[in-house]
Amino acid sequence: MSNIFYVSGKQRAERVSDLFTAIARRYDLLNDLQSFGLHRRWKHRVVELAAVKPGDRALDLCCGTGDLALAFARRGAEVIGLDFSGAMLEIAEKRRQKIPKTQHTNLKFIQGDAQQIPFPDHFFDIVTVGYGLRNLANWETGLAEMQRVAKPGGRLVILDFGKPANAIWRTVYFAHLKIAAPLLGSLFCGNSQAYAYILESLKHYPGPEAVAARMRERKLANVRVIHLLGGAMAINCGEQLS
Ligand SMILES: C[S@@+](CC[C@H](N)C(=O)[O-])C[C@H]1O[C@@H](n2cnc3c(N)ncnc32)[C@H](O)[C@@H]1O
Repeated sequence: MSNIFYVSGKQRAERVSDLFTAIARRYDLLNDLQSFGLHRRWKHRVVELAAVKPGDRALDLCCGTGDLALAFARRGAEVIGLDFSGAMLEIAEKRRQKIPKTQHTNLKFIQGDAQQIPFPDHFFDIVTVGYGLRNLANWETGLAEMQRVAKPGGRLVILDFGKPANAIWRTVYFAHLKIAAPLLGSLFCGNSQAYAYILESLKHYPGPEAVAARMRERKLANVRVIHLLGGAMAINCGEQLS
């Protein structure tokens, strides 16, 4: 059965935006349930790899409800969280108001398209995206934009679902995404299709090794892939040449 939220071509962004509008209110809860809370650990790893220092400029694309952007702000960076979903940004903004004023004045959430980042070239020390690249109509355009806005020496860090190399583990993991994720979506969010979309979008995403290959072709330095949970998740890192 085809997924109502996955289409290729021009309508992709519209459907993805509908999806996140539909699930925004329950997004954080469902993240905890379907990853058994592990997404917090994986995001912590992204924050470590991003190694933001006070005063650094950080951009978190497809920021959703703001987990990564908030973490960077807590470390004293000047942070922009960008997303095209007003519903997700509303929740991010409420969370922003709850962190100490000294940190939240350095954090702004803005509505925009990750494929046309509204900032000049070479502007950020760190550019991250968590579970976002896979959702773009064209992930390569997103990657090119990340690189464009990164300063020389700036770091790019990308977290997303992976495709485990071990056939048995891949079967178990894809079965989880095919059966458990939509079931949880149906029970806690009244929307199984939104969570069935994860596997559908992953099938159309080339995966972390192909993303790394593209990063190397684009002449990013120190490109590496960190596999988490046997390849179920992956982090791509690279640096803009100085
Ligand atoms: C799976 S959520 C990830 C949220 C957050 N980064 C996290 O890790 O929890 C994907 C987010 O990407 C956003 N998104 C998808 N396509 C986008 C685009 N072209 N431009 C900006 N945001 C986009 C969605 O609105 C959604 O909030």
